[in-house]
Formats: sequence, C-alpha cells, structure tokens
Amino acid sequence: MVEKLKIGTLISGGGTNLQAIIDACNQGCIDAEIVFTGSDVGGVKGLDRAKKAGIKTFVVDYARIIAECRNTRDVDSLLPTDFDPEEILKKQRLVDVEKDHEKALFFIKSRVIAERRLLDNIESYDMDLLVLAGFMRVFTPYFIDRINTNAPGHRIMNIHPALLPAFPGIDGYGDTFRYGCKIGGCTVHYVDYGEDTGPIIGQKAFEIVDGDTLEDVKEKGLKKEWELYPACIQKFAQSR
Ligand code: GRF
Repeated sequence: MVEKLKIGTLISGGGTNLQAIIDACNQGCIDAEIVFTGSDVGGVKGLDRAKKAGIKTFVVDYARIIAECRNTRDVDSLLPTDFDPEEILKKQRLVDVEKDHEKALFFIKSRVIAERRLLDNIESYDMDLLVLAGFMRVFTPYFIDRINTNAPGHRIMNIHPALLPAFPGIDGYGDTFRYGCKIGGCTVHYVDYGEDTGPIIGQKAFEIVDGDTLEDVKEKGLKKEWELYPACIQKFAQSR
C-alpha cells in the first residue's frame, strides 16, 4: 500500500477548494490525508468544513497580530530570536525596500511575528506538503525556509485565480475580466520568495463568452480549481 501524503492546509475563507481536497481524499482519488487546517481569520466557513471532516484546526489571527505590532512601541521585542532582518530583507521579493525602508521593514517584521505563530502550530504536525487553499496572505522567506527544509525542494503549494504569469495579486478573476480576456483560468504553483511567481505545477483554462459577468467568470474558474488542485496534489504524491 502507498503511504499517504500528509498535507497541512491553510485557508482564509469559504474553503471550497479545501472541500474539494477533503472529498478527493475521502473518495480515494488522491493518495493523501489532511493533517490540519489553519486559518488567519476566525469563524470562517472553511474551518467548519474541516471540523466536519474530523480535521484538527487552529487560527492565527493575522489582523489582530498586525494591530498589536502597530500599537506597540517595541515591535522588535515581539520578533523571534532567530529572525535576521538583513537576510530576510535581501531574500524577499514582496516589498520595495528602497522605496520606503521603514514601511517595508514594518511589513516584514509584522508578518514574521505572525508566521512564527503559524510555525508554532504547524511544527506539532508530521507534514509532507503545505497546501494554501484560498489563504490570502503572502509569506516571507523566514516562513518559507522553515517549511522548505530540504532546499531546494518545494513544499508549499498555492492556487491562484488566473493564468500566471498574467494577473498575479489578490484579484485574478477580476483582473482577467476587466482586461477583457476571452480565456480565463487558474494556476497551481509552488510558493517562492515573490508574490505568485513560483514554478507552475498545473493550469486549467475556460472560455469567457459575450455576456459573461464577473460572477460567471468566478463560477467557471472555481469549478476548474476544484479539479486542478487535487490533480496537482496527486502529481506531488506520485513524484515522491
Ligand atoms: C479561490 O478563487 C482561490 O484561487 C483564491 O481564493 C479563492 C478561495 O476560494 N486564492 P475558497 O475559499 O477555496 O472557496
């Protein structure tokens, strides 16, 4: 019997991709099991989906942590002791350090503080792959390097609602629609130090016809996502 791939999942919202992965695991379509679901927002529907499936859950409230960082006089006192600002600022490709050094530094520090709390939860699980299923936060190299411990092997997967490298960022379907594209799609890729820039694992496309609204585009896209994500996870499981 094949040993199942142990996947950790992170979400921020409704969790329909999470549900597709849960169903694919339960139906034996992929050789995987979900060992936890974490969220950066409490009370979201995706957490209920996980609990219903008997999956352990946790919340690391990013908004609260970032507010705490803003309100303290000494952000540095909240930082993990193994954080090296020089190293992380040099590696990261999320913010323009030259443009506004102080703003960039605050961004990185506050995210690292949240990421340390995520890692404290994640590290208690035995996990082969981390799957971002609608997780609406970016990661700094501090977090990525602590997951990708077998460098250069990638262990973090993300799904993006556009055909990368077109339309990175937070509103892939919206950007695709507003640009007037006749083909939309979704992409599963590994996470690297940039935003939506990592190596592509799989893509699925769909047609956008005259009269389609943004809602239609999102609906068509999500249906493709639910097929694509389990297929990419299975590809990872088989390539071990
Ligand atoms: C999906 O469109 C995904 O591509 C994007 O956020 C959405 C999450 O949907 N990153 P859900 O929470 O899986 O329903």
